[in-house]
Amino acid sequence: MKTIAVLGSTGSIGTNTLDVVRRNRHLYEVYSLVAGHNIEALTSQILEFRPKFAAVATPAGLSKLTQTLSASGLPKSDWPELATGSAAYVSAATASSVDTVISAIVGVEGLEATYEAVCLGKRVGLANKEVLVSGGSLVMEAVRRHHAELLPVDSEHNGAHQCLRAGNREQVSKLILTASGGPFRNTPVRDLGTVTPAQALNHPTWKMGNRITIDCATLMNKGFEVIEACWLFDFAPSQVEVVVHPQSTVHAMIEYTDGSVLAQICATDMRMPIQYALTYPERAEAPVPKIDWALARQWEFLPPDFVKFPLLKLAYQCQEAGGSATCTLNAADEIAVEAFLQGRIGYLAIAEVVEETLARIPSRTPRSVGDILDVDRESRASARERVTARAAGTVTV
Ligand SMILES: NC(=O)c1ccc[n+]([C@@H]2O[C@H](COP(=O)([O-])OP(=O)(O)OC[C@H]3O[C@@H](n4cnc5c(N)ncnc54)[C@H](OP(=O)(O)O)[C@@H]3O)[C@@H](O)[C@H]2O)c1
Repeated sequence: MKTIAVLGSTGSIGTNTLDVVRRNRHLYEVYSLVAGHNIEALTSQILEFRPKFAAVATPAGLSKLTQTLSASGLPKSDWPELATGSAAYVSAATASSVDTVISAIVGVEGLEATYEAVCLGKRVGLANKEVLVSGGSLVMEAVRRHHAELLPVDSEHNGAHQCLRAGNREQVSKLILTASGGPFRNTPVRDLGTVTPAQALNHPTWKMGNRITIDCATLMNKGFEVIEACWLFDFAPSQVEVVVHPQSTVHAMIEYTDGSVLAQICATDMRMPIQYALTYPERAEAPVPKIDWALARQWEFLPPDFVKFPLLKLAYQCQEAGGSATCTLNAADEIAVEAFLQGRIGYLAIAEVVEETLARIPSRTPRSVGDILDVDRESRASARERVTARAAGTVTV
């Protein structure tokens, strides 16, 4: 029996994780659930999975949770311990009975709890890519020092992890990450200035949270994945290639030095990589559609357009530069995406805000989670200022 902490339980990855648990009650129990603001969903999860501990983002959310649990009729003696804020997320992830943490909070809010779980040598199923994009050096150093198991849940990295099991790491020449290309793959650059949030949220193959969906439309998400892959598998950015594959069925490929390429292929269903992170090194039946090889199909592979999608190029440059540049990249992108979703800036301004912020925040070497969160705060403030300047029409680069 494995005891699990689910950070970000109400999100797309979190609910898929709980579905895996639901189907395998004899194998997994939930110790803790961490959510942001969706109190209704968290209440139902508490009633179904009966965790010992639950945390939410704000005191207002906590008092709402207390009300909804009272209204549910669950006897108080069966309630989980309730808490709020980042210290509570750390408690949720580091409790001694937890052996596996699924890290699926969106954004840098998930960093500290994930880092502390790593420092205790726990197994971490990592969906939250911002953890490595913002704090890759610190987190990977802690993984090595504490012999933690960091298993990628992101489908491309999970695919790479599987392909890497087939050979020696020293005989790998490169990693190829596939990208769906997003909803604007065939949109001419001249039309991108007027695309709406609704169009950008219309992802062709995956159903995910809003931030990651917009990041897929700009290919920022693929840039984050390049950074994440460099940290997870110890690659230089030049060894990680991105290939557009609109069908999203081949998730990653590993090229070995003899020219042989191994691919990981699976239907687009996150329960597969989530379950892999729970069962590794074993495999188990998963509720994922199998590919019907009796049907004719075509898979395309195309080079990415770095001019149309400048954030992908920027990700390579930030990882090459090292230091805190990738932390700033993530923070600025989050603010720009939020402003785009609110209708405050246009689609093309997302990349402009990110570039302008990177030019204003000097890179440094973060030595602690606190240092990373400082860079994150500073970068957000600068990005907000760039958004305001754009919204007011007074942009100076
Ligand atoms: N979805 C995918 O297929 C996929 C694939 C690969 C990687 N990822 C990565 O996995 C992470 C989660 O993605 P997602 O698609 O599941 O996102 P999502 O659907 O937006 O869910 C985000 C989760 O984080 C919680 N959250 C947000 N702010 C929080 C805060 N301040 N404190 C505590 N919890 C907070 C949300 O809680 P509330 O909803 O209660 O506010 C929700 O549970 C992201 O880093 C994403 O890049 C996702």
